[in-house]
Amino acid sequence: MKTDVIILAAGKGTRMRSSTPKILQNLANKPLLQHVVDTCSQIQNSKLHIIVGKDKKLIQSTVNTPRGTNWVLQKNQLGTGHAVKQALDSLRPGSVSLIMYGDVPMVGLATLKKLMQAGKSKLGLLTFFPDDPKGYGRILKNKNKVVSIIEEKDASTKEKEISEVNSGIISISSKSLKNLVPLIKNKNSAKEFYLTDIIELAVKSDVTIKTIHPSSNKEVLGANDLQDLLLLERAYCEMTAEYFISKGIKFADNKRVDFRGEIDIGKNSFVDINVIFDGKVKIGRNCKIGAGSVIRNSRLEDNVIVEPNSMIEEASVGYKSKVGPFAHVGPQVRLEKNVEIGNYVEVKRSQLGSNTKAKHLAYIGDAVIGESVNIGAGTIFVNYDGTSKNKTKVGSGAFIGSNSSLVAPLKIGKNSMIGAGSVVTHDIPDNKLAIARSRQKNIKKR
Ligand code: UD1
Ligand code: CA
Repeated sequence: MKTDVIILAAGKGTRMRSSTPKILQNLANKPLLQHVVDTCSQIQNSKLHIIVGKDKKLIQSTVNTPRGTNWVLQKNQLGTGHAVKQALDSLRPGSVSLIMYGDVPMVGLATLKKLMQAGKSKLGLLTFFPDDPKGYGRILKNKNKVVSIIEEKDASTKEKEISEVNSGIISISSKSLKNLVPLIKNKNSAKEFYLTDIIELAVKSDVTIKTIHPSSNKEVLGANDLQDLLLLERAYCEMTAEYFISKGIKFADNKRVDFRGEIDIGKNSFVDINVIFDGKVKIGRNCKIGAGSVIRNSRLEDNVIVEPNSMIEEASVGYKSKVGPFAHVGPQVRLEKNVEIGNYVEVKRSQLGSNTKAKHLAYIGDAVIGESVNIGAGTIFVNYDGTSKNKTKVGSGAFIGSNSSLVAPLKIGKNSMIGAGSVVTHDIPDNKLAIARSRQKNIKKR
């Protein structure tokens, strides 16, 4: 089945009170319109027609679209019916049209498939029953048959009580769409050409209306103002958590976790409250993510433990490693197996070999560290000389005494040892003990 997807994204978005176009507002760190485009790109044999207004250039440069996307300009925003009209000439013969609203970003593919099936011979209309129908077009029925949609602005008090509302999404053969849309008039309080009038016109020309419902109301939430956007963000995170719960991931509270990107979590992992997953994140099995942690663009292998309030970004954390509490790992960090990064430790642009530990108060920057190295409390990798960043290499088995400063560029040999409080400015060969501090004097008290 050939599908022409018409995405409406030309509206002014006045209610958002923002200089950013409404459909470029973010949901889970991604523009609303991008969500719609990503879902619709998965429909087989589809062509996308995106209706845009004066922000065309900005939208085109922000949103990634599949090859062959047809950008259609709606010069003046005279309503949703007028918007669809702009695309009619580009529709492919014999196709089914699917009309999506750029500000309704969470509709799932399964729901759309049902709708498109209905659209082959009928007019498929996606409706739902929200807790509060305010703001949505109400579905008017006569003897259980849909006869029209009345917009909130034009509805009588009695009509406003109707609980079934319009999601905005419909599917119909492109042929019928071409016949019906030009008949839409702008006789309403807003003087706009409402796409919703297509229902009444369809009924008049004997096109059957088939209503389809989403699997959850969350799928069809729309965002007109900033308040809606907040509700949408919560709904998105809850839906994502529900998905993971069904896959065997445990949450302390599915309402207090944020997913903002492409996240994957392995079985039997546990996520405590107020965790933010951001960007491209892959968490292995049996991991524990402590409260208040932020994991961004990172990969955690199986059995990793992240203690509370840790930040992991652009890092790869090996099997059974432990991070936190209050640790900052990344960017460009690789921790091998069983590494421990503890309280108030920061690691940047470094590789740490298996079983290496830095458990308290340290800064590790631009370092390549071997296996089973112990980095004492208060150790600082002095990587910056005021102009450039320099590297430190630490051989396996080295023991770095507490409160040492390792002034890079520097090479510290295998199994070497550094006395506490040293300021190390010269390379240390393998198996040596280096002490670089003044000797203690005990002087008689006066
Ligand atoms: C619309 C529906 C309403 C439905 C609700 C669901 C109409 C008349 N009303 O109302 O029945 O319950 O969505 O969320 O369709 N747009 C254009 N060009 C225009 C006007 C709008 O492209 O000239 C785009 C907007 O960018 C937006 C979409 O169409 O993405 C919907 O417009 P909006 O003004 O938000 O309609 P609602 O008042 O929410
Ligand atoms: Ca809307």
